Amino acid sequence: MADEERWTEVDHYYAGLLAPADPALEAALEASREAGLPPINVAPNQGKLLQLLARLQGARAILEIGTLGGYSTIWLARALPAGGRLVSLEVEAKHAKVARANLARAGLSDRAEVRLGPALDSLAALVAEGAGPFDLVFVDADKESIPEYFAWALKLTRVGSLVIVDNVVRGGAIADPDSRDPSIVGLRRFNEIVAVEPRVTAAAIQTVGAKGYDGLAIVLVTGD
Ligand code: SAH
Ligand code: DHB
Ligand code: MG
Repeated sequence: MADEERWTEVDHYYAGLLAPADPALEAALEASREAGLPPINVAPNQGKLLQLLARLQGARAILEIGTLGGYSTIWLARALPAGGRLVSLEVEAKHAKVARANLARAGLSDRAEVRLGPALDSLAALVAEGAGPFDLVFVDADKESIPEYFAWALKLTRVGSLVIVDNVVRGGAIADPDSRDPSIVGLRRFNEIVAVEPRVTAAAIQTVGAKGYDGLAIVLVTGD
């Protein structure tokens, strides 16, 4: 059996047991597929992990950068207690529309909001409005801008907040110091910033599964 096949099998095994198919999540993926969105949502077990982290965090305010069809958004929004809020930022009008419909179908429109526009603009607007602090930020948009997203995330969080960054391994490409892929350049710049940023402490792990070989960074805000 090829490695990828085995990873997928194990993903399905664990997702089946611990993150089983659910009508709203299934419908969100189906509607995203039908609308032609790329299948780059988190895997079910990654969605469940995000949800657990949000619950562990006692998150009442969640910020997501990169909505796509709202699949990860649903996992995260379901972690919110009564009165909790999630804001998700998306630049593509079509993605935002699909995501809003998916959130409505999941019964989450009262607590999850999709803001359309380039995330850097929306982040500046959130700071200007005095939004936050967010207890958890999930960074999952374009990888080139991750250093800037992280800088905004620090302005919008508090001591004890988590910043979770998706796709930090990219099939291993992250380890190539000579890469000229803008995503890798952005991710490596982000890693170098985190490494010396005194206000945070972080870990990054490699993951394999139905979505291939990638990874996740978890950054804890420890100081102002
Ligand atoms: N979090 C989603 C997947 C997000 S895919 C999930 O797991 O279900 C990345 C998304 O980021 C895409 O929808 C893409 O349109 C969006 N994106 C890319 N560049 C962006 C930008 N500059 N501002 C806001 N969103 C952006
Ligand atoms: C891509 C983006 C993602 O956020 C992801 O989880 C997987 C792939 C991409 O742009 O290829
Ligand atoms: Mg991702």
